[in-house]
Amino acid sequence: MTQAKAPTVPRHVAIVMDGNGRWAKARHRPRSFGHNAGRKAVREVIEACLREGVQALTLFAFSSENWQRPQDEVGALMGLFVRALDKEVDELHRHGVRLRFIGDLDAFDEALRERMHAAMTRTAGNDKLQVNIAVSYGGRWDIVQASRQAAATVARGELRVEQIDEARLGQWMSLAELPPLDLFIRTGGECRISNFLLWQVAYAELYFTDTLWPDFDQACLRRAIEDYARRERRYGRTGEQVAISS
Ligand code: IPE
Ligand code: IPE
Ligand code: MG
Repeated sequence: MTQAKAPTVPRHVAIVMDGNGRWAKARHRPRSFGHNAGRKAVREVIEACLREGVQALTLFAFSSENWQRPQDEVGALMGLFVRALDKEVDELHRHGVRLRFIGDLDAFDEALRERMHAAMTRTAGNDKLQVNIAVSYGGRWDIVQASRQAAATVARGELRVEQIDEARLGQWMSLAELPPLDLFIRTGGECRISNFLLWQVAYAELYFTDTLWPDFDQACLRRAIEDYARRERRYGRTGEQVAISS
């Protein structure tokens, strides 16, 4: 497989925004206080991505597993999503951000679903930066929904089973139309993927930082991008082969 040398600025960045609870605990405040504080960090990374020329930013806001949290925390998060959608969409729209939600959106109540759809429709024509918010999202869910679409296409007689290959199945995965995931960041010190973009992460560069999400700012993103720019992406080849082709 020949791969063009990836640019030094990642085209597509994904972030597991982790550490809100610990940030709040350190301040003797409820976990929801940390989630609220995380909104500022979201604004910071969006601004930084616009400035750096990143094309797509995918943020993990709520995992398919997070439904298992205490009911009051889930409720607080839903309230926060509603408030954030009511308050931030104007500003994002002004900045030319195209918003998209990925995940099992049917799991949300109607009021929230309507707001998500309205925000997507309103910003659909923007092209400065694509921001994807993953909610009720799981990487395994994504692979299952893509497989179901493949199976349905076969059942309709529009595709033969032997025609299903990586490229074809990949077309049904969330974010398939965007540049490939170049940089995967996780804040909050844990070194795990937690069922985020399993399919898409295959050849992403991973970056883990101890910084808790509410403390993550533009300088932190810059550091991650600088680190990324120093990586050699070999895609299975040798360093010598990469040097010749670049
Ligand atoms: C991430 O922060 C936000 C969500 C999962 C919604 P956490 O709430 O997981 O914070 P920690 O990991 O407990 O500090
Ligand atoms: C992952 O964080 C999900 C989000 C940041 C939205 P978690 O805090 O839920 O992950 P685990 O459970 O510690 O792996
Ligand atoms: Mg966590």
